[in-house]
Amino acid sequence: MAFPAISCLVLTLLSMFISLVLAAPTIYNVVSFGAKPDGQTDSAQAFLRAWTKACASMQPASIYVPAGKFALGQVIFIGPCSNKVNVMLIGTLVAPSVYTVLGNKAYWVLFQHVDGLTVSGNGILDGQGASLWACKASGKSCPLGATTLEFTNSNNVVVSGLTSVNSQMFHIVVNACNNVNMQGVRVIAAGNSPNTNGIHVESSSSVTILNSNIQTGDDCISIGPGTTNLWIENVACGPGHGISIGSLGQNQQEAGVQNVTVKTANFTNTQNGVRIKSWARPSNGFARNVIFQHVDMMNVENPIIIDQNYCPSGGCPNQASGVKISNVTFQDIHGTSTTEVAVNLNCSSGNPCSIITVESIMLTYKNQVAKSSCNHASVTSSGSVQPVINCL
Ligand SMILES: *[C@@H]1O[C@H](CO)[C@@H](O)[C@H](O)[C@H]1NC(C)=O
Ligand SMILES: *[C@@H]1O[C@H](CO)[C@@H](O)[C@H](O)[C@H]1NC(C)=O
Ligand SMILES: *[C@@H]1O[C@H](CO)[C@@H](O)[C@H](O)[C@H]1NC(C)=O
Ligand SMILES: *[C@@H]1O[C@H](CO)[C@@H](O)[C@H](O)[C@H]1NC(C)=O
Repeated sequence: MAFPAISCLVLTLLSMFISLVLAAPTIYNVVSFGAKPDGQTDSAQAFLRAWTKACASMQPASIYVPAGKFALGQVIFIGPCSNKVNVMLIGTLVAPSVYTVLGNKAYWVLFQHVDGLTVSGNGILDGQGASLWACKASGKSCPLGATTLEFTNSNNVVVSGLTSVNSQMFHIVVNACNNVNMQGVRVIAAGNSPNTNGIHVESSSSVTILNSNIQTGDDCISIGPGTTNLWIENVACGPGHGISIGSLGQNQQEAGVQNVTVKTANFTNTQNGVRIKSWARPSNGFARNVIFQHVDMMNVENPIIIDQNYCPSGGCPNQASGVKISNVTFQDIHGTSTTEVAVNLNCSSGNPCSIITVESIMLTYKNQVAKSSCNHASVTSSGSVQPVINCL
């Protein structure tokens, strides 16, 4: 009598167990791993436990960050993972407000060596940078600060819908990645916050940045050495320092920048619009096959600028930039400049800019056509170009 009853129980338990395993959700809620949405308790370890599960999952897995404020110290999510991982961020991640905690750690939230990663949701990353900015403004010696969100050595990454506010240093960095698609990203920080670049791309190929809105204290988008096949479309920038290729040529040996498209962008109250910038030092770097097209400028200090004489610390007397800039097109760019010289092509005396094409430009200063300045560049104009560009 007892025997069949026990084996029946065992079978029932076994089948329950099997159905539980098969139906096991591949959604890992960080709260189930001990994360506390109280804005106080450091939840980094709980996030890492959820990551370990999701990353080891043989099927695509999601990490779910629900509404609420999660305090996090530095978190490094390391791959490779067994399958795709999707991080759904609904809540807010809050960095330590005391800047010495992250200090000189280069990043706050890092994804490294991951192939097939999506970070999406309307959640917020709050870098709480104000105290570090104040330190930097005071002239005291301060740590460099941490990038809010960095992807490094990763491929096939999607970043969608996130908002990054008040980063200590750069907001989002894409470094040594291939095939990264960012869209609907918002960046918000004070116009006078130092080093708070919106999105920085470096040593990466096939990155697209679409439909994004960036308001910050440094470059809205900066494009570093080794960037190829970058596509930027439908971006609003301001306040900020514009969309900038560079600084290039800081090093003698440096990978070039190639095939960059910036299409349909607007700049409002920014220091620069579209810019290429290089150090005045020897380098084998380059920037080529670049197009800036359909751009609106509203009260921009330097709407169109190539500056190959960058040398903030004064360490390059009488040197010319080795960076070769060629095949750059400025097309359909109009609006208002807050300085008289709206087009400034200041190329390297040692390596003049070549194949610079300007087409359909209308930039004004105080309701008059603005002025242009051009050194060491070979420029072809077509359509109506105002101001007219005459190169020395
Ligand atoms: C340039 O980059 C775009 C993506 O931004 C890509 O579709 C295109 O194929 C690239 N062109 C070349 C010549 O590599
Ligand atoms: C600037 O661009 C953004 C994003 O494309 C768009 O939503 C906004 O309407 C534009 N603003 C102006 C003044 O053109
Ligand atoms: C100039 O760059 C454009 C855009 O990347 C590209 O389509 C074109 O082939 C390049 N022309 C030359 C001469 O390299
Ligand atoms: C071009 O660069 C030189 C060297 O830094 C600088 O003296 C000059 O003022 C610049 N010209 C313009 C128009 O910015």
